[in-house]
Amino acid sequence: MNYGFIGLGNMATAIIKGMATSKKFDTNHIYGMNRSYEKTDELVQQYGIQGCATIEDLMKKVDIVVLAVKPQVLPSILPTIKTFLRKDQIIISVAAGKTLSYLQEQLHEHSSIFRVMPNINAVIGASTSCYSTSVSASNAHKQLVEEMFETIGTIVELPENLFSIFTTIGCASPAFTYLYIDSLARAAVREGMPKEMALKIAASSVLGSAKMVLESNEHPMALVDQVCSPGGTTIQGITSLQANRFEGVIHDAVTAVTKKDHSLQ
Ligand SMILES: NC(=O)c1ccc[n+]([C@@H]2O[C@H](COP(=O)([O-])OP(=O)(O)OC[C@H]3O[C@@H](n4cnc5c(N)ncnc54)[C@H](OP(=O)(O)O)[C@@H]3O)[C@@H](O)[C@H]2O)c1
Repeated sequence: MNYGFIGLGNMATAIIKGMATSKKFDTNHIYGMNRSYEKTDELVQQYGIQGCATIEDLMKKVDIVVLAVKPQVLPSILPTIKTFLRKDQIIISVAAGKTLSYLQEQLHEHSSIFRVMPNINAVIGASTSCYSTSVSASNAHKQLVEEMFETIGTIVELPENLFSIFTTIGCASPAFTYLYIDSLARAAVREGMPKEMALKIAASSVLGSAKMVLESNEHPMALVDQVCSPGGTTIQGITSLQANRFEGVIHDAVTAVTKKDHSLQ
């Protein structure tokens, strides 16, 4: 099985790194093509993938094609991909906002097409990814795609109508969380803690809290109650966050991302 990546930016690099370091994929069978050749060359040097100069060259060599260019670039490369697309090839698009029906319209109605949404934590093998697929995709195809994306974290199948909201809570929310971590750390700096130390403590506390939600089987609000002793310190912070519309601000941010995602379709 040969795997091909068109567009070798941050996301493709993270996936190729995951596949290469998992030792489950032979990089002799991974092909890459990028607009500027420097990025291809870097991945050839670093992981031993096979570089291709053109989309045509790549399409002739691979069984699975990952479209990893920006969504606005996708329309300009799809006609060339369609020209060389074989019936047995699997297409995976990671482009935000580009729906399965759009991809089918631009390629072939009966092609096996996957829409996968990883997140930036793929860089360290901790992505939370999801996928949806066209009806032509078989269970064997699904397994192939899952095996690829499990090298960069976890992946679940979702109906496409939930893709947009997944994009927000799965893909944009890491940025929200980085901002939250930095805000906590900055507040600690104000109280005299060095920033580096504060960042480590804030990030580790967020990591532990996420594990607690996933592993304790407790509702998050029950966990909040457990930390807030009557007349204590934490309840002061919680009521201050609520007075400042903490939940409302998060809901507004989710709505803003979803609105933009819809505008890309
Ligand atoms: N980054 C994320 O966290 C994330 C998360 C989920 C999904 N995604 C999706 O992943 C895709 C890639 O995002 P990214 O962050 O990896 O972007 P990126 O770093 O900008 O990478 C895009 C790559 O595409 C290349 N490219 C542009 N036009 C091309 C063409 N005509 N033929 C071949 N290659 C071309 C660019 O090459 P140059 O170097 O020449 O510009 C660049 O290396 C996007 O569709 C995005 O929606 C990203």
